[in-house]
Amino acid sequence: MSAIESVLVENRVFEPPAAAVQGARIAGMAAYQALCDEAARDPDGFWARLARENLAWTRPFTRVLDESNAPFYRWFDDGQLNVSANCLDRHMGTPVQDKTAIVFEADDGAVTRVSYKELLGRVAQFANALQAQGIGKGDRVVVYMPMGVEGIVAMQACARIGATHSVVFGGFSAKALQERIIDAGAVAVVTANYQLRGGKELPLKSIVDDAIALGGCTTLRTVLVYERTPTAWNRVEGRDKTFAEALAGQATECAPVPVDAEHPLFILYTSGSTGKPKGVQHSSAGYLLWARLTMDWTFDLRPDDLFWCTADIGWITGHSYVAYGPLAAGATQLVFEGIPTFPHAGRFWQMIDKHKVSIFYTAPTAIRSLIKAAETDEKVHPKNWNLQSLRILGSVGEPINPEAWMWYHRNVGGERCPIVDTFWQTETGGHVITPLPGATPLVPGSCTLPLPGIAAAIVDETGKDMPHGAGGMLVIKRPWPSMIRTIWNDPERFKKAYFPEEMGGRIYLAGDGAVRSADRGYFRITGRIDDVLNVSGHRLGTMEIESALVAKTDLVAEAAVVGRPDDVTGEAVCAFVVLKRARPTGEEAKAIAAELRNWVAKEIGPIAKPKDIRFGDNLPKTRSGKIMRRLLRSIAKGEAITQDTSTLENPAILEQLAQSN
Ligand code: PRX
Repeated sequence: MSAIESVLVENRVFEPPAAAVQGARIAGMAAYQALCDEAARDPDGFWARLARENLAWTRPFTRVLDESNAPFYRWFDDGQLNVSANCLDRHMGTPVQDKTAIVFEADDGAVTRVSYKELLGRVAQFANALQAQGIGKGDRVVVYMPMGVEGIVAMQACARIGATHSVVFGGFSAKALQERIIDAGAVAVVTANYQLRGGKELPLKSIVDDAIALGGCTTLRTVLVYERTPTAWNRVEGRDKTFAEALAGQATECAPVPVDAEHPLFILYTSGSTGKPKGVQHSSAGYLLWARLTMDWTFDLRPDDLFWCTADIGWITGHSYVAYGPLAAGATQLVFEGIPTFPHAGRFWQMIDKHKVSIFYTAPTAIRSLIKAAETDEKVHPKNWNLQSLRILGSVGEPINPEAWMWYHRNVGGERCPIVDTFWQTETGGHVITPLPGATPLVPGSCTLPLPGIAAAIVDETGKDMPHGAGGMLVIKRPWPSMIRTIWNDPERFKKAYFPEEMGGRIYLAGDGAVRSADRGYFRITGRIDDVLNVSGHRLGTMEIESALVAKTDLVAEAAVVGRPDDVTGEAVCAFVVLKRARPTGEEAKAIAAELRNWVAKEIGPIAKPKDIRFGDNLPKTRSGKIMRRLLRSIAKGEAITQDTSTLENPAILEQLAQSN
């Protein structure tokens, strides 16, 4: 436990400004407490009320939570609805129908707007196109798309016909894509010929071709290609169709297909502690309820807000707070195709000014890299733009260090905007621990308190509660509607990873360490307690990178991967490698390291490239052959080894590895 003990003491407290409290949906801590009390007193009544008030049902539910097959919990399970109808059709006939749903800014700065009514027409037409390809309820569709309206349309269209989508981030490699197509048993891939990022055209379609060429994608019949650029691409006859071809002649009306509340809306692959990514499966009703509700609670969404979540649709944040939550809530949102540093590192601030963004939600890694840029070049400092339109700031994906928090607060929020540091995960579906902008006093670096209905706690290995001030494991003690339902194709792994027997088999284990402050009981996340790294807000399994390295069988004998702290990316990947030939040094080591980095980029994606690669004659192992990762972590950090090394078989290796950088 000592490894996850609290070391940081933060005393600054920022009360919510009067302007943020006034008119807030949850105004003041008493209102927050009242909701928490309601949830604690009568959980079923609480969730049933919210599900009735916030979702449109085609068949009302009569059951709330079914725990009979725990931990495979079921919510509202005799009810039926359609997720896309809840995001689009339900706004028709209301003032929202003519409101802008999406303001799209392309990589080159060109802006287009899509109203709710137009978006519904486009989604319906795409849904018809999917059906014309023989795709229907229960089929899986992989979406491998750039950021843009088309990706959102594809996701919503799947939801409309009851197909289950699995979005794969455009930065993943052919190999990673192939594994996901196979595991999901996808019948179709929706992609683009190219994506435009930072002024560059990057291929997507050819990666799909490479993925399929790797073999095994036996269920796949169709590839739909959005022609983002006029650039030529390779067409496979009989399998590939352009969007234009698929959409030609399709009506812009399509009846939404009602599905059961528990119908799988999507599968999203994420890294765990083994070499194989997990297909996190979410439901329809419970998931959407929380995406919708947290828009109101966490962001205190108001009708005239311009909401901007910078996450890609390839991650859970882009699912809940781009593709579903904002639309279900009837918000106007900004969607951005490009990257924060192109054509200059003031792009985000410029876009906030240009579009008058009022709620801005991004990752600490982006903030830290923009701080660095602003420190070296005055011209890209936020002070060069008018950010008065901002009302609320958000942070997501990794712990935000108090220094970055203060900079964000001062230089972006003008000391007037509450910062919601939202803790959640692919598995939780939406925010679980977060401040409320009109209620919660803020402490930099703390995600503060659980949302109403979320029974978060900190426990030891046996599930026993830890006192405030003592570090432990973050758990959620009661089920909640937007929780993960299972791991696709692997229910046993689901049980083992999230509901360990040692804790009774019913408590959700988040995989993070946390500590509550002695005074306020505020949560602070201290980082993952499993073999998962968080690099630039992207989740990567160390085992996945190790498997990729050892798959280079002509070169690599053994590899161990650990994380080390990094100022900008939060954590950096550090690989220790034993080659099948003599340990390289000097120029040869550099060349082989470059070769291995490129190899990992091909196996997983550029995001997984190790920053450091150290070569050794061996790895530090116990006599029973277990690699001692904690020692590698110390070496990666450049720390002197003070831990006990008496069980180590080959202590001399530590010195060699320490000098191998
Ligand atoms: O370690 C926690 C960290 O990100 C992990 C979840 O990653 P992923 O499933 O990719 O979802 C990211 C977007 C929700 C968590 O287990 N994490 C996420 N948000 C925070 C965080 N750590 C600290 N503070 C946060 N606000």
